[in-house]
Amino acid sequence: MDAPSDLKLRVAALLTARKIRNLNFTVIVLNVALIVFVFLMLDQGPPILRMSRKSEEAIDITDRELKAALARSNEKLTILLMYPERWDANNVMRLPYHCGNCEVSLDKSKVENPSTKALVFNFNDPIKEIAPQTRRRDQYYVWITAESPVALYHLRKMDLKGFDDFFNLTMSYRRDSDVYSPYGTHQQLRSYRKDLPFSDAELDTWVKSKSKVALWVASNCHATKHAVARKDYVMELIKAGLDVELGGKCFQNSAANFRNHKFKFYLAFENAWHCRDYITEKFWHSGLRSGVVPVVLGPPKRDYETIAPSPKSFIYAGDFPTPRHLAEYLNYLDKNDSAYKEYLNWMKTDRKEVKERDRVTGFCQLCRILHGINVDNVYNPDYKAKYKHIPLYQRPEGPRIVYSLNEWFYGSDYKECLGVSGLET
Ligand SMILES: *[C@@H]1O[C@H](CO)[C@@H](O)[C@H](O)[C@H]1NC(C)=O
Ligand SMILES: *[C@@H]1O[C@H](CO)[C@@H](O)[C@H](O)[C@H]1NC(C)=O
Repeated sequence: MDAPSDLKLRVAALLTARKIRNLNFTVIVLNVALIVFVFLMLDQGPPILRMSRKSEEAIDITDRELKAALARSNEKLTILLMYPERWDANNVMRLPYHCGNCEVSLDKSKVENPSTKALVFNFNDPIKEIAPQTRRRDQYYVWITAESPVALYHLRKMDLKGFDDFFNLTMSYRRDSDVYSPYGTHQQLRSYRKDLPFSDAELDTWVKSKSKVALWVASNCHATKHAVARKDYVMELIKAGLDVELGGKCFQNSAANFRNHKFKFYLAFENAWHCRDYITEKFWHSGLRSGVVPVVLGPPKRDYETIAPSPKSFIYAGDFPTPRHLAEYLNYLDKNDSAYKEYLNWMKTDRKEVKERDRVTGFCQLCRILHGINVDNVYNPDYKAKYKHIPLYQRPEGPRIVYSLNEWFYGSDYKECLGVSGLET
């Protein structure tokens, strides 16, 4: 994230823009998704989200126990975002029914309300200064980040050791967070599907309408080791004969000038590589959501495969020995529509086939946790080890504590993420 203040203003503007009470269900779901998304956005400016009122993002809950637990959770609880004062505190967002009964608020005067059960602290704020003087044992303190360990450790020199036993829950794009808050999910992509082709004939038209080969948009070409490396990589692709359009602050060119869907490939290269699950809006929004095949460099392939709509919905650059081999393959796909189309076939999946389709994420999952509904934990790769003592439909008897934020966020990422020595930049 290059411009955190800009980002915060955007979120504030977003909250102000919506006078949120009593909006219809769909709009609220989209707001949640959008706020989480905007909040989580990284280094390339605001995506142009086409918000659709007729979205299909309704969760068809099939689990009887879950339905009963939601019906029981009738007390309205507050999730309080402990973000800076200048944000408009009057804005409140009600979460949709399937999340449990919660509002997400910026109004810090609610901090002592008995119904305020979670305080969310952004990694970037002076957390200990803004936390209440006396701590309530029934409130969860939640640590949220959308950034990679590389950004926190190397760029911002953030020491997380001071937070042992301080937080109750972690919230991030990492699948092993207590609250999983990814940049996108297959389920969310499906909710936009009316903008994407999904019959064979529509897919043919879609592919034929593409007039350009590859797009790369970046605002950061130097801040991290991998920001430099990815630029070199793209330059190698160009030298090898791939037609790449360049955009973003790196090239004095606004990202908004591009109509992504005109391209066959989007180079979704992250500015941190080998970091666990660090897969951003480049993959979800600029690539998949735009009906473009993302070419990826970032975490290991298996991290992509686990969350991607299908193993053949993206191209993993690491599968190719050199940029030249990758360029040749992309040029081959550019010439062969039927081979290219195989990478878009995921768009034809029916919503019913989306695995994890009843799972909720972000504030929605947090709300469920506050109501003692912990079913979404079961998707956590650490499920058995970490949540063994937490019942699915009840608040746990003991406290939930993040014993070492440092050990989790820095220590349990892949070794290569922070550099083998932990000191490389
Ligand atoms: C084009 O792709 C199809 C499907 O992958 C393949 O069967 C065919 O041989 C390819 N054609 C050429 C000319 O490479
Ligand atoms: C949150 O963490 C604090 C500090 O470790 C602990 O005292 C408290 O009981 C925890 N709260 C909950 C609701 O788990």
